[in-house]
Amino acid sequence: MNPLRSVGGRLALGLALVVAGALLLADLIVVPTLERHLIDSKLSQLRHDTRRIVPSLANSPDYQLHARIEKAAAQADARVIYFTVQDSPRAILTVFDDSNSLTSADVENDPLVVKAYKAWPKSVSGTVTADERRYAEVAYPLGAGPVVLFRSSLRDTLQSINQVRRRLVIAGLIALFASLVVGYGAAGLFARRIRRLERAAHRIAAGDFNEPVVDRGKDELGQLAAAFDDMRKRLAQLEHARREFIANASHELRTPLFSLGGFLEIMDDEELDPTTHAEFMATMREQVARLTKLATDLLDLSRLDAGRMTVEHEQVDLAALADVLADEFRGVALSTGHELEVENGAGSRAVGDEERALQIGRILLENAMVHTPPGTSVRIGATQQNGSALLTVEDEGPGIPAEHSGQIFERFYRLEGAVASGSGLGLAIARELAELMGGSVKLEARPRSTRFALVLPSEGSEVDAAFSDENAERPASRQE
Ligand SMILES: Nc1ncnc2c1ncn2[C@@H]1O[C@H](COP(=O)(O)OP(=O)(O)OP(=O)(O)O)[C@@H](O)[C@H]1O
Ligand SMILES: [Mg+2]
Repeated sequence: MNPLRSVGGRLALGLALVVAGALLLADLIVVPTLERHLIDSKLSQLRHDTRRIVPSLANSPDYQLHARIEKAAAQADARVIYFTVQDSPRAILTVFDDSNSLTSADVENDPLVVKAYKAWPKSVSGTVTADERRYAEVAYPLGAGPVVLFRSSLRDTLQSINQVRRRLVIAGLIALFASLVVGYGAAGLFARRIRRLERAAHRIAAGDFNEPVVDRGKDELGQLAAAFDDMRKRLAQLEHARREFIANASHELRTPLFSLGGFLEIMDDEELDPTTHAEFMATMREQVARLTKLATDLLDLSRLDAGRMTVEHEQVDLAALADVLADEFRGVALSTGHELEVENGAGSRAVGDEERALQIGRILLENAMVHTPPGTSVRIGATQQNGSALLTVEDEGPGIPAEHSGQIFERFYRLEGAVASGSGLGLAIARELAELMGGSVKLEARPRSTRFALVLPSEGSEVDAAFSDENAERPASRQE
């Protein structure tokens, strides 16, 4: 991989850029500020040192002037030049120069001297550059004529500043190198952990959910690994549920198909008497009905899984719904020998989807007739409880043992000895449809009595756990 594309390369480059930026800022801001500060203090020192010396020069008789200038130069530790101004032609002449140089040509045109002459009685100070050297200068006008100039070299000051600049560059280069090494090294550590996560992601993508994703770090990468592992576990559960679902569905489809195939073969091979033929036809019709129901149930479940099942949130009169269901099932009850009663309480107006509520009612009523012996009485009714509207189906059949009360809502779950024709999908569909409407399906199971209730939000109230019973809890785990 291109090193600049790796996290390590980018981190190291980022650090190096930050260090280089800091260095540049120091050179552009800190060094010039330091230079200004040092020169200012040098000038103020020169002003301070010379202020007391100047009066002795102003009042000096000519014959002592030279000696006094030399003394002033020694006191101020600076070169001292005394100028007079000639009127015609107008010019500023050097009279004394303590430097004993043969010529004072380098100071003849000093801008500060002219400025001081014009600024009388004020003194002027500043820096000048002559022969590529910089000097700090203070010039005093003495009365209306002469000007005395103190000049001190800035060489030492500038040398110190250059030394600071050099050290700054060296320190910067060391920091730059260190940042590259540290950045690359630190990123290498992270990169190893990221690569481990990447490998885990590839493993999961390839369908291998067995190996846990481990990272002992407590930082963001550790949290990411933990989230990855949660995802792996969830995917493993889903995959398990999917395989189980396919296996169950194929099994449920194969049984009636196998039976139909057998009947067809017999009918094809043998001459059957009319009674047997009619019996076979009736059984085959039952198997076709079972297959049709199974196909419809599987389709409903796949719609629910895909989130493509939509429900209305409309006003539903559960008492009227109980009447409709009772009418629908009266014929079935007669044929199975069940007593069907309607018990409607007051105020059972719910918010939900009428068609879906009817579908759930049919599932519950069918169970009450299929899973109970003939002669059992079945009651359907609507009522209100704890601010929710309930559609209840109650029977006096064998009941559902408490240890199964959670699992019967799982897909394909049937009790031992349950009617063989069922697929175990009815209650799973009922529960998921109820949840889609913002409600639930609760079970109150007692020995020799079973009461299921579709609990929906009642009109103008929030849904709550209305069906109060310790057995009425939602199943702890739910298979998809
Ligand atoms: N009223 C009831 N009395 C006794 N057992 C019941 C009752 N209702 C449901 N069960 C048990 O719960 C199981 C699951 O019911 P569910 O309606 O999900 O499936 P099913 O009736 O077997 O098949 P399907 O409804 O898909 O045709 C049943 O097989 C049965 O053992
Ligand atoms: Mg059923």
